[in-house]
Amino acid sequence: MAALTVLTKSLGYHCAKRSKISTFSQNFPSHNSRFQTLRTLILEPSLSESVKLNRLSDYNSGIVEVNLDRPEAKNAIGKDMLSGLRHAFEAIDRDSSARVVMISSSVPKVFCAGADLKERKKMTAAEELQIPTIAVIEGAALGGGLEMALSCDLRICGENALLGLPETGLAIIPGAGGTQRLPRLVGKSIAKDIIFTGRRIGGRDAMSMGLVNYCVPAGEAHPKALEIAREINQKGPIAIRMAKRAINEGIEREMVSALDLEEECYEQTLNTKDRLEGLAAFAERRKPIYTGE
Ligand code: COA
Repeated sequence: MAALTVLTKSLGYHCAKRSKISTFSQNFPSHNSRFQTLRTLILEPSLSESVKLNRLSDYNSGIVEVNLDRPEAKNAIGKDMLSGLRHAFEAIDRDSSARVVMISSSVPKVFCAGADLKERKKMTAAEELQIPTIAVIEGAALGGGLEMALSCDLRICGENALLGLPETGLAIIPGAGGTQRLPRLVGKSIAKDIIFTGRRIGGRDAMSMGLVNYCVPAGEAHPKALEIAREINQKGPIAIRMAKRAINEGIEREMVSALDLEEECYEQTLNTKDRLEGLAAFAERRKPIYTGE
């Protein structure tokens, strides 16, 4: 996490303390209110005006939500949002109780409108986190907004989502990983079509291209993401981190070296309390309780 350490220093970040317990409805717009019973939130003090870090509690404990909230610019990534995202990812990286991250928007009909075209700041990559990240996309995810989603491990969208990399229309190219992560995800040919034309792709088409993992009815991306986050949250945390590392690093290597990496990651899971707990729970026909040790 060297890059994050440098950023931490340069931004003079001080550790966020848990400040208050709140409910979902206090922090999210009413269109999400039907999900409020699912979630009790512990809010970090504001990292920035436009980025909120919410730690879910009770049976959702371990799930962390990074929420984008810059309605006046449709969540465009400006200076404040960029530093908020960096701080949020740093805080999550330091938090050994965090097991899965959801990146969501509280601005209706938009996930993120990309780089702030009035400020032109580059976004930060969720990919650096060791734990799984899920982009929750309702509405527009354009330019840097889609690139942020591409840097997540999973993408879940509503049918009304509009995904695209419109940079070539501005006479530039995607500059936050889009030209590299998109072809790795959907293949060279589809990536070229998306980038050369700058076309906006609907949720269902995105699903058929493999650009998102799930496309659900409009407005239901958040509960779907929470469902997936809960499934991940119940698994062995060290195993999840090692699986992420094995997949992400292994795919860049040739097979022999990739299999060595898998073995290295596998070994990290062997001498853990959680592995013994998994075996004990199986024998006792109960759910395992993993502590990440
Ligand atoms: N950077 C800075 N400001 C942005 C922005 C961006 N990327 N995207 C939207 N905004 C601002 C608009 O300028 C407008 O501000 P104003 O009220 O001061 O005029 C405000 O957000 C609302 O945008 P508007 O276009 O009226 O909202 P909409 O709901 O009709 O459309 C989008 C939403 C996201 C589809 C549309 O704003 C859009 O296409 N934005 C540009 C996306 C883009 O090309 N991103 C790639 C950058 S490389």
